[in-house]
Amino acid sequence: MPSRLKTHVDNLDAIMEGGVPEGNVVIIFGKPGSMKSSLAYSILHNNMELEGKKALYVCLEQSSASLISNMEGLGFKPPTGHSDMNILDIGILRKYMPQIGYQAWIELFRVDIQNLKKNFNFEVLAIDSLPVLEMLAKFKEPREELFYFFEWLRELKCTTFIVHEEADNPFEYGEDYLADGVIHLDLRRDEKNVNLYLGIAKMRKTVHRRGYFPLIFDHGKFELVID
Ligand SMILES: Nc1ncnc2c1ncn2[C@@H]1O[C@H](COP(=O)(O)OP(=O)(O)OP(=O)(O)O)[C@@H](O)[C@H]1O
Ligand SMILES: [Mg+2]
Repeated sequence: MPSRLKTHVDNLDAIMEGGVPEGNVVIIFGKPGSMKSSLAYSILHNNMELEGKKALYVCLEQSSASLISNMEGLGFKPPTGHSDMNILDIGILRKYMPQIGYQAWIELFRVDIQNLKKNFNFEVLAIDSLPVLEMLAKFKEPREELFYFFEWLRELKCTTFIVHEEADNPFEYGEDYLADGVIHLDLRRDEKNVNLYLGIAKMRKTVHRRGYFPLIFDHGKFELVID
């Protein structure tokens, strides 16, 4: 059985034989506000705090300052200069993109991450988010280029979480086939409330339960309510 990366979401590891198989590339997708970034951040944060693992959060959607302040609001201590959590803010690369050209952008992105792998040796990676990466990379042949991008991620030898948006056709380029795992965060509305559910749509190299379970976030901790 492959070794596992614990999500440290109560009960989530238990429904997939102890955690995400190490090395998997896992998509976390959901509608706006479904706590995708919070879940990805919490997995990285807890692996750093409780497992002593190094983590890299790549923030393409918002500045690292805005991500950190959101996460502080949820109760996570901000990373210090000495911490094992590195947050890469590509805002600067976005700003200068018209000058460097779109093709060069994805190359620079890869080189940055590879350098961080060499010098910092992160074991857990989050990329937030895939639609923004696809937009910035301006893939000419998205299916083919995404195939090689996922292969490149696997070669990094870390466990990767990719935040993705739930749109009309979220897996237009077969992203769900390319990923080793797909976790869906589903916002469901009843008369009074909007509740959050989590379902594992797929997870290679492990047996897992298939249902949707309520996901609660309380005091800086996620918990899956299982029967
Ligand atoms: N304890 C809580 N339980 C449920 N939701 C919460 C809790 N605390 C904060 N939130 C909500 O979580 C949302 C922020 O989550 P997050 O930014 O992770 O979502 P997201 O899916 O990444 O959003 P976006 O689509 O904007 O990127 C906010 O709407 C906030 O109100
Ligand atoms: Mg987000």
